Amino acid sequence: MPLISDQTIQDVLANTDIVDLIGETVSLSKQGKSYFGLCPFHNEKTPSFSVEPERKTFHCFGCGEKGDAISFVQKTRNMSFVEAVETLADRANMNLDFSAHKTDDPNARLYGINQDALNFYKLYLSNTKQGQTALDYLHKRGIEDDIIQTFDLGLAPGEYDLLTKTLTDRDVLVSDLYDLGLTKQSKTDQYYDLFRNRIIIPIKDEKGNTVAFSGRVYLDKDESQAKYINSPQTKIFTKSNVLYNLNNARAAIEQTKRVVLFEGYMDVIAAHRAGIAESVASMGTSLTREQVRLIKKHTDHLIICYDGDPAGIEATSRAINLIQNEQMNVEIVLLPDRLDPDDYITKYGKDKLKQFIDNNRMDSIAFRYYKNNMDIDFTKMLDIERFKKTVFDLIKNTSHTIIETYIRRLATDTKLSIESIRQDFEQYTKRNIEPIGKRTVKQLPIDSKYVKADRFVLNYFLADYKYVVDFNGEFGMFYISDMVRDLRMIIEDMYFAIPDDQPKTVALADFTAQLTDEQRAFFEHKVKYKDQIVEQDEYMDFKDVLNEYLRTIQYQKWNEEIKVAPTIEEKIKLAEYRDLKLKEDNRWTKKR
Ligand code: GTP
Ligand code: MN
Repeated sequence: MPLISDQTIQDVLANTDIVDLIGETVSLSKQGKSYFGLCPFHNEKTPSFSVEPERKTFHCFGCGEKGDAISFVQKTRNMSFVEAVETLADRANMNLDFSAHKTDDPNARLYGINQDALNFYKLYLSNTKQGQTALDYLHKRGIEDDIIQTFDLGLAPGEYDLLTKTLTDRDVLVSDLYDLGLTKQSKTDQYYDLFRNRIIIPIKDEKGNTVAFSGRVYLDKDESQAKYINSPQTKIFTKSNVLYNLNNARAAIEQTKRVVLFEGYMDVIAAHRAGIAESVASMGTSLTREQVRLIKKHTDHLIICYDGDPAGIEATSRAINLIQNEQMNVEIVLLPDRLDPDDYITKYGKDKLKQFIDNNRMDSIAFRYYKNNMDIDFTKMLDIERFKKTVFDLIKNTSHTIIETYIRRLATDTKLSIESIRQDFEQYTKRNIEPIGKRTVKQLPIDSKYVKADRFVLNYFLADYKYVVDFNGEFGMFYISDMVRDLRMIIEDMYFAIPDDQPKTVALADFTAQLTDEQRAFFEHKVKYKDQIVEQDEYMDFKDVLNEYLRTIQYQKWNEEIKVAPTIEEKIKLAEYRDLKLKEDNRWTKKR
């Protein structure tokens, strides 16, 4: 799409009487060479908004907003640049045709401003003394100049407001910078840059528009600060709808017909260096359904390569469910020694990462086997029994080869004979093969008080991070309704995004802005946010109710298992197991 020529823009501005134009919306009075009025961009009682007919500009001494006739129209009528030029040309009866310059993307103007900011950051990285320090840091991490180009890395200066100043001098509206999260406002109404002294990583949408930024600390003295800060949620950025590097990865995805999913920016960059260009990241928070769907537009083969620590394994487990719900093929790579991909390269060299990923992919059954296996104490008979059943459930609807493989594996791991495991499996499936459309264990009706508690604790999660920590400590990822689970993930992600040195609270408006229509309706009608001081006691009551639910469900499940057990010995064994667990679990006896 061709840009409007500078000459046309100059002509349109020359044919526009800026005092007339602004006078249509702001009542102006003449003072010397200037005109003054009440600023349309902020609330004020005494006029500090001035129009300069000679320079054909406006400027507010109160809020700092400034620009020319075009930006005035853009801002006050919420128009794109081209639309504003067209409006002014029409107003001056210039009879020009702008259809060749129009895009149908209403956000084009905001993308343009982010691009200006990115250009500024890039220039700052390559042309300043501070930039040299940052380049040294990147080079030391193995990120050479060609990679810096590919990922469009930049640097935010240490100054208070250099970006804001530079861009507003070029007639970018400060309110746009504010809306994009690039500029913040201090208590004394000063504007200052969000990103300072940080290496800038642009976050682009699938089409390559820069929709947000992340900034990483690189100076040693910054160790107490959050490692990364990100642009807030804006009109053009919803974190849960964007995957880092998807735009860059598209060609490689076409070719390899797969996507490798990582946790972080540096992992993607490391993978790219290692020859895995089909890599994207969910940016540290848990994967969302929207992100999975973005990938599915390009391929249905996804490889998860999260950090090899317990948190990474837990996150992998959650991601698998999400991905399988979208009917996609998922494979999992667990890196050894709790390394992340970037560490792995540093330790073993870049060719080794690709080799490892290509040779160590597990399917979801293998991953679940591995994960369950980790928690088993093989000296405890009951643990082994449970593990066996978990594995039987994993494999019962698969092929003979898979069943055979896992029966052998189970035999090795449990030190039982293949024969006895096979017998157990056959007996187990005889009991558990479900006639189509009929379940042996019936779906239990859920009492409304449990449902209510499940939903209502969300209010506490929103009010204070400590409730999230407390609840997760006691219940883990337990939930009753999927909708509640999704909302919890969103809340947890929001907390995760708050730097450590800032108060851990989530504003209701920020939260609801992230919800889909369905989620918002659910939240508004079923959760009923209480915007008042939450009471500790009430939270405790909800936890008691949920514990009661867990007990009831478990009890019913055990009884159901006892009922369908084929022999009296088996029934006795299960009943003993149930009674032992009842005694062991302090949830059954705890009384407040
Ligand atoms: P390096 O530590 O530089 O190697 O980066 P990394 O990508 O390996 O970081 P890490 O594994 O610690 O975190 C994974 C991802 O989580 C990051 O890429 C970020 O997207 C996100 N993240 C990590 N720390 C923070 C933080 O303090 N704030 C925010 N908002 N996000 C973070
Ligand atoms: Mn890392």
